Amino acid sequence: MKTIHLLRPYFDSEELEEIQKVLDSGWVSQGSKVKEFEDKIVEYLGVKYAIAVTNCTSALHLALLSIGIKKGDEVLVADFTFPATGHSVLYCGAKPVFVDVDLKTYNITPELIEEKISERTKAIIPVHTFGQPAEMDKIMEIAKDHNLKVIEDAACALGAKYNDKYAGTTGDVGCFSFHARKGITTGEGGMAVTNNKNLADKIRNLSVFGMTSAWDREKSTEFIIPEFTELGYNYKMSDITAAVGVTQLKRLEKIIERKCTLAKYWDEKLQEIEFIEPPYVSENVKHIYQSYVALVDRHINRNKLIVTLVKRGIQTQIGTYASHIQPVYNSNQKCPNSLEIFNRSLALPMYYMLREEDIDVAAAHLKKALEKLA
Ligand SMILES: Cc1ncc(COP(=O)(O)O)c(C=O)c1O
Repeated sequence: MKTIHLLRPYFDSEELEEIQKVLDSGWVSQGSKVKEFEDKIVEYLGVKYAIAVTNCTSALHLALLSIGIKKGDEVLVADFTFPATGHSVLYCGAKPVFVDVDLKTYNITPELIEEKISERTKAIIPVHTFGQPAEMDKIMEIAKDHNLKVIEDAACALGAKYNDKYAGTTGDVGCFSFHARKGITTGEGGMAVTNNKNLADKIRNLSVFGMTSAWDREKSTEFIIPEFTELGYNYKMSDITAAVGVTQLKRLEKIIERKCTLAKYWDEKLQEIEFIEPPYVSENVKHIYQSYVALVDRHINRNKLIVTLVKRGIQTQIGTYASHIQPVYNSNQKCPNSLEIFNRSLALPMYYMLREEDIDVAAAHLKKALEKLA
């Protein structure tokens, strides 16, 4: 039985050639390849600064530290997200306060933000869920009114746009992931971007043990021994990882374009199938379909559906998590929409090399399975 995968990363020989160059250079930890990757991200997104790190979780952690989040603070977090978002707040000793999301877009509902703001609230983390940007205009307005910082969790959204502006470039800091399931991947990897020099310096410093930057020292003709100015972390990206990133970035637009075509194809297929709704796309955004996540009807047992499909060779997955119900957060927030999406969402196969014929096969199995479970 042929398996139709949920996702396959797209690599070719160019990644190997770039890695080989790094290996041959003898410098495999953080060095010039990371700088090149950061510069390319700066150029692509049109931001001033980019700092490459080990993953998006560490980018979020450092972004929060850079804006001064500490013990006793509260940070508003879009509830429907991979728990890395909430975890990053806990890493700072602060409390994540979860805000419910919209049933259609799966993104934070701006209208629900204000009621969760307290004297302790310092920041908001909107998540651009599955590659569809959150409503940044409204979020930025609320943040301005209440003097809050905004950290964008753009883990899934490199290349997505809100009103022609790239996701991750509007808030104080934007954080991206290059994990295996993202639009382009380095296996594991992340990037923090910002237009604020102070925040960029702070993030860079904290990503390298809290020590004076190696690149600053490189520019000097004197022999300078670095100093450790604060308790930073070892969140550096390596040049081997960056070699993959530089190559993948060249293909980003091509990958997005193909995935948008496939998403349209899936949309058409789902129109013909009962008991499932295709993902909704807002008018003013460019969705990049990190994942293609549909909603099954309320009476369908989504988990049984996933098991039934896997037996027929079709890999699917839940969308992502409702954070407020995760025991680690011990949260008393209520986010009914997020909970509902957590229970009803179904990620369908979506990746660059997926073919229309694969979607035909997957859709036929999906139709049969849904009819059986209805
Ligand atoms: C919305 C969101 N935020 C953060 C992360 C964490 O990214 P990383 O795995 O690069 O740490 C993920 C990863 O799945 C994610 O989906």
